[in-house]
Amino acid sequence: MTDTGTEIDDASIPSQSEKSLEHENVETGEPKMRAQGVDVYYGDKRAIDDVSIDIYTEYVTAFIGPSGCGKSTFLRALNRMNDTIPSASVKGRIELDGDDIYASGMDVVQLRARVGMVFQKPNPFPKSIYENIAYGPRIHGLAENRNDVDEIVEKSLRRAGLWEEVKDRLQDSGTALSGGQQQRLCIARAIAVDPEVILMDEPCSALDPIATAKIEELIDELRGRYGIVIVTHSMQQAARVSQRTAFFHLGKMVEYGHTSDIFTNPREKRTQDYITGRYG
Ligand SMILES: Nc1ncnc2c1ncn2[C@@H]1O[C@H](COP(=O)(O)OP(=O)(O)OP(=O)(O)O)[C@@H](O)[C@H]1O
Ligand SMILES: [Mg+2]
Repeated sequence: MTDTGTEIDDASIPSQSEKSLEHENVETGEPKMRAQGVDVYYGDKRAIDDVSIDIYTEYVTAFIGPSGCGKSTFLRALNRMNDTIPSASVKGRIELDGDDIYASGMDVVQLRARVGMVFQKPNPFPKSIYENIAYGPRIHGLAENRNDVDEIVEKSLRRAGLWEEVKDRLQDSGTALSGGQQQRLCIARAIAVDPEVILMDEPCSALDPIATAKIEELIDELRGRYGIVIVTHSMQQAARVSQRTAFFHLGKMVEYGHTSDIFTNPREKRTQDYITGRYG
């Protein structure tokens, strides 16, 4: 890891977190996820080249970089979504709580519940709002009876900031919601199975500014409870929602650090060029 900073100087971190950060230096604590020397290939073409990064629950981590640099590829490696692409192969080591997620004994369905994913285009199931949330907890055995399911549905929708808007129409189809509501439904669905990490691949790119603001607020509220990684093409969004930023270029992670440093004082010229709009 290249980030050796011990001082938290990020003005965007709310006071509650500042307090907890003062008490323990989480930067040297155990990361939730750790990638070491990760390569991802599509056939014999290398899309990710020797990437190492630690992901902490305490921070939102943003992945930025020009189109095609491998952000989505690397994000998908973190919960083995690349397994669904026949030509894709992953080398190196990725750990969740110290365990190798590519180990042969790893239950991939369980892994994807622990490391959930939210996609660019909201993808609710063509089922009711209620069923969109209830499905996961049921198949993962998190609910024993209807009451448990009801509770999880309400709690997840509340946490995703959607409850008040949908509580009287839980039997309506999830696909009948607005785009921004659908994306919060997808976040609620990810939350419902009690994940440890949530990966978001450009979750706001199809949303208007108001819906985007709601998702950003939500990300801030979820921080600390879940490890959150967000891929974004918006520098403003990365600066608003994240405390750590990784800049990718041509399959490599060029620079990682405090978001404020990456945007105001990057070490690498390639980072500087990107954040000032010289390419992208
Ligand atoms: N399913 C696939 N099969 C083969 N090559 C792929 C596949 N998905 C991505 N690639 C290639 O891997 C490289 C990285 O793509 P990736 O989608 O990870 O980039 P990205 O940084 O997410 O880009 P964007 O910002 O446009 O979403 C690109 O060269 C791309 O063409
Ligand atoms: Mg992408």
